[in-house]
Amino acid sequence: MAATVEAPITDPALVKRLDGYVERARTAARAFRRLDQETVDAIVWAMVVAGLEHAVDLAELAMQETGFGVFEDKVLKNYIATEFLYDYLKDKRTVGVIGEDLERNIQEVAEPIGVILGLLPITNPTSTALFKSIVAAKTRNAIIFRPSARAAGCAERAIAILQEAGEAAGLPPDALQVIPDPTLDVSQYLFHHRGVDFIWTTGGPKAVQATNEAGKPCMGVGPGNAPVYLHASADVRMAVVDILISKTFDASVICPAEQTLVIDDAIHDDVVAELERMGARVLDAAEVDAIARLAFDPDGRVQVTALGQSCANLAAMGGFGIGEDTKVLLAPLPADLAELAAHPLVQEKLMPVLGIVRSPSVEHGIAACELVTEHGGLGHTSAVYAQDESVIARFADAVRTGRILVNAPTAVGALGGVYNALTPTFSLGCGTWGGSTTTDNVNYRNLLNIKVVSRRQAPPQWFRVPSDTYFNAGAIEALRQIPAAQVLVVTDADTEGRGAVDEVRRHLGTPAVRVFSDLHPEPTEEEIRAGVQVLDQSRADLVVAVGGGSVIDAAKAIRLFHEHPHLSLRELALPFLDARKRVAQYPQIAHTVRLVAVPTTAGTGSEVSPAAVLTVAGRKVTLVDYSLVPDMAVVEPRLTLSMPPALTADTGVDALTHALEAYVSIFASPYTDAFCLQAINLILGALPRAFADGADLQARTDMANAATIAGLAFSNAFVGVNHALAHAVGARFGIAHGRANGLFLSHVLRYNAAIPTKFMPAPGYSAYVAPEKYAQIAWVLGLGGHSEEIARERMFGRVDELLQAVGMPRTVADLGIDPEVFAAAIDELAMAAFRDPSLRTNPRMPLVVELRRLLAAVVEPG
Ligand SMILES: NC(=O)c1ccc[n+]([C@@H]2O[C@H](COP(=O)([O-])OP(=O)(O)OC[C@H]3O[C@@H](n4cnc5c(N)ncnc54)[C@H](O)[C@@H]3O)[C@@H](O)[C@H]2O)c1
Ligand SMILES: [Fe+2]
Repeated sequence: MAATVEAPITDPALVKRLDGYVERARTAARAFRRLDQETVDAIVWAMVVAGLEHAVDLAELAMQETGFGVFEDKVLKNYIATEFLYDYLKDKRTVGVIGEDLERNIQEVAEPIGVILGLLPITNPTSTALFKSIVAAKTRNAIIFRPSARAAGCAERAIAILQEAGEAAGLPPDALQVIPDPTLDVSQYLFHHRGVDFIWTTGGPKAVQATNEAGKPCMGVGPGNAPVYLHASADVRMAVVDILISKTFDASVICPAEQTLVIDDAIHDDVVAELERMGARVLDAAEVDAIARLAFDPDGRVQVTALGQSCANLAAMGGFGIGEDTKVLLAPLPADLAELAAHPLVQEKLMPVLGIVRSPSVEHGIAACELVTEHGGLGHTSAVYAQDESVIARFADAVRTGRILVNAPTAVGALGGVYNALTPTFSLGCGTWGGSTTTDNVNYRNLLNIKVVSRRQAPPQWFRVPSDTYFNAGAIEALRQIPAAQVLVVTDADTEGRGAVDEVRRHLGTPAVRVFSDLHPEPTEEEIRAGVQVLDQSRADLVVAVGGGSVIDAAKAIRLFHEHPHLSLRELALPFLDARKRVAQYPQIAHTVRLVAVPTTAGTGSEVSPAAVLTVAGRKVTLVDYSLVPDMAVVEPRLTLSMPPALTADTGVDALTHALEAYVSIFASPYTDAFCLQAINLILGALPRAFADGADLQARTDMANAATIAGLAFSNAFVGVNHALAHAVGARFGIAHGRANGLFLSHVLRYNAAIPTKFMPAPGYSAYVAPEKYAQIAWVLGLGGHSEEIARERMFGRVDELLQAVGMPRTVADLGIDPEVFAAAIDELAMAAFRDPSLRTNPRMPLVVELRRLLAAVVEPG
């Protein structure tokens, strides 16, 4: 397997050698993938033990080879990379199922990445090698290391020790390899090698950039430049010791080390005095210049000679004398932000040199810290010392670093596990600011391909009904029991004219009754606003809606906007896919006004439903929420006796459509099915009788009950495409809602019974059962039919007969609409229907082109 790009390496022997490393790593990775968790954990254990046993000699080797840092601290780093890492990893699962969420029915299954190319930094050559080797083994990845040229020997040794110890416990041969050639060409060749799956870089900005440019999955973590803000509320003595521990740690050759202290004016002198007392030394201006010159060349590049040197060495190199025991050199830096930005020592100083800035205010202090991060430390680490929580919050909000340590040292703190519960790591993600994909303390999860096994889960359903429903002749008596100080009757002028309001008045327990009757069929937003004003003034604690669906819907909206005047109709009417996830928020608090619905038609079911259909700017807008459900429904069939035949037919067909649509809806449940079947049964029997003889009280009673029962069903299962079409056509041509439903009913039944072009995604709807359920209606109602198809046809036939019997228009011409005008409006109507929320619960997904076809079907006699 060779590199994908034209290799810059021309020496065939070298190419062969490099390909050999990758080939062996791939073989190791294949063997690795077969290992189980137990074996992996045994390997990790063996590697950790070997690492611990060699922590001291590896530190010695690193000291000898690099010539900088602090031996004792290098030992500590090696312990963190083994002991702390092991403590974190020991009970972590990295093979097979590694996580399970029973509630969400989700499992995580881990897979290794394969072959990792791991770049090591000069700053922590052995600890990072130990860390990356152990994490790679824990995740069953083979890793090829590229050590820093000046620290290759000690890294090689560390890796050899771990490979040997690991192999004895089952680690595949060549799982850990080192390619020590220091040339960039070799790195480039490997960066683009097809056999390398992932690059994991710890290094300077150039290494991170090259990693990101290699064009394959990677994790590059780069340099830091940690600012530390000491607020006036800080615990000075603790802060000073923390800072000294941390800044002297391995002579500061560690990327999260403190770099500049920004000290509140109020405590500045105390902090500096305490630092000096504890062994720091403040530099004068000439000494600061000398340090700046030896730390960086004139172009601002780090001078390797100064890296990780002791204070005494640095002073000697700078030509000034200091006490042998000096721990840290403090370089006063300008408080002026522009001057601070221009100062060479604003950068990361990988040596025991700390900038100090006197800060006049919290704003300035935080701004200075932000400025420091912008000089090479974005994404990495920062710290704040304060007791004042608001200062901590402001700092955390402003400073863009992946780790913000509070009252703790950065160098030792960021590695995790010592001063806090951060994940132990030698790979500190720097976020996008630092060219990393994460701000994590990188560890095993970043080296796994985690597969999510998600089992099918249908959300639980519900069946919600209003608390009280009174029905059958005489139900109106129930009004008397309702306690009320002041009543507002909401109705329309016709209903009032027919005496229904007087009938209600007679049964109310109080004479304090006002009437609002300024409503018309298909209520508009303006009518609602007028009603709200009347309700506001009336101070009523009870609203009784007396009339058809239009009146009841209006009353629902009037109560809503009376109780919550600041709600926006536009937001409430926002479309939604799933009621449980909708964006629109309806207030879910107890009503201050009770709403009692007294329907005078037998159709809409609005007396029990959570829906209110309004007409806004010529469009039907449906508000749906259970907070809209009336508190009580009084289904008094005697109030429907006055309906003329056409109204009886229209409203009855509306109720039938509710039941038929809810029955096949994607939200249908055994609960709603039971209600649908009874409603259909009652309507098929009673509607022709009520139509033929309006005075037939039994037929009226059956119809009134059927409409409410269907309402209970669609309140929970909702409707479908038939209603979407009816709303569009009704609004455009001013057709009564039930008539508009009847126009499409035969066509929609057959449309839903056919194999869908597109299914509606619905976890609760396990198979396409609509055709079967139509047949079930026939069987349950005793219409017969030996096969499913025959049964279904019989049911459809019964519906057609009923529509015929009650004189439902079958074409637009029957409705008095010019077919040409209608045909010209089809595109617009299809889009209006498509936007209608009713359509979302239809069993098959109505495509716009299908909506056009359904609309076209009612132009000509079928
Ligand atoms: N909220 C819901 O759940 C829901 C469900 C379906 C339909 N709707 C809506 O309901 C409205 C249709 O309601 P509707 O079909 O009851 O008609 P309607 O309320 O629009 O009334 C139509 C006409 O019939 C008159 N009327 C009412 N009762 C009468 C009676 N007993 N005798 C003589 N005339 C009477 C009314 O005064 C009115 O003039 C539409 O806006 C529709 O969108 C709402
Ligand atoms: Fe309806």
